Amino acid sequence: MATVKRIAVLTSGGDAPGMNAAIRAVARTASARGIETVGVLDGYAGLLDGRFRPLDNRAVGGILQRGGTMLGSARCPSFHTREVQQQALTHLETAGIEGLIVIGGNGSQQGARALQQLGCPVVGVASTIDNDLAETETTIGVDTALNTAIGYIDRLKDTASSHHRAFIVEVMGRCSGYLALMAAMASGAELAVVPEQDMLPESIVADMLDAYARGKPHYIVVVAEGASLKAQELAKHFQGHPGGFEARLSIVGHVQRGGSPSLFDRILASQLGAAAVDSLAKGRGGILTGWVKGQVTEIPLEKAIAPCQKVTPELLALAGVLAR
Ligand code: F6P
Repeated sequence: MATVKRIAVLTSGGDAPGMNAAIRAVARTASARGIETVGVLDGYAGLLDGRFRPLDNRAVGGILQRGGTMLGSARCPSFHTREVQQQALTHLETAGIEGLIVIGGNGSQQGARALQQLGCPVVGVASTIDNDLAETETTIGVDTALNTAIGYIDRLKDTASSHHRAFIVEVMGRCSGYLALMAAMASGAELAVVPEQDMLPESIVADMLDAYARGKPHYIVVVAEGASLKAQELAKHFQGHPGGFEARLSIVGHVQRGGSPSLFDRILASQLGAAAVDSLAKGRGGILTGWVKGQVTEIPLEKAIAPCQKVTPELLALAGVLAR
């Protein structure tokens, strides 16, 4: 087996709490194996410009507990074309980089797979607050983002109960309703509106009126950003029902992506980052390090980027029962 001497790591797409812990784990595990780590600035955008910085053990000190990513991140739509991917590959080869670690979510891992297909060994690290990668049960950042969301909804419930109001709360989740459903269940909200299930505003209004008639003190709907029924539109439907709750709209927004990572995310990031280096060192690429049944698991990138089914009919049904 050829010995890997130099690898690169980048963070891509929406940042997630715990990305820094993963970068630290990559650099320090690599150092322990005698491998040099190079950080790529601003995701695939930085790769296209060849913007690299060395990451020794000291360079990644003091970042474990910090949100965001010390390497920077970016959306890079141009990375979908073969020509641009080839350009990135040339930069990696020129810099003597023998393997790449991509810390990010579904879109980022699609880029990782493209580079792997062009011949560069790439290992992904599952990291996105959306939890939109298949096979892995969770991804770095989800736990922290959910804790942020439920803290926010807990506070809204206090004021909602005091004023006997409804709140339509928008949380993140572009293609996946996982955050919305879990936040709704964990905060005791009345309903989650998710991209995986179409809902009519009229039926939600009817449910709100029923909850009012049953003596509920408030009515909280958690709407995923990517749901076909948008939070703002739903809020309009809630106006003008004298026999129901007066409604307010509240958008949690990017605060869900920031903040110090939870214990779970720090440990998950540390293990997944370290495992990614081990995989590259063993000459394996085209895989994602994810989390299955409490274990770090290698998942083929091909499978990881397939549509995922984390919002199940069973979970939706449970949330409905518990909200009564
Ligand atoms: O990265 C995931 C995510 O936070 C989604 O939940 C959200 O829809 C999107 O990113 C927002 O992207 P941006 O920060 O580029 O507006």
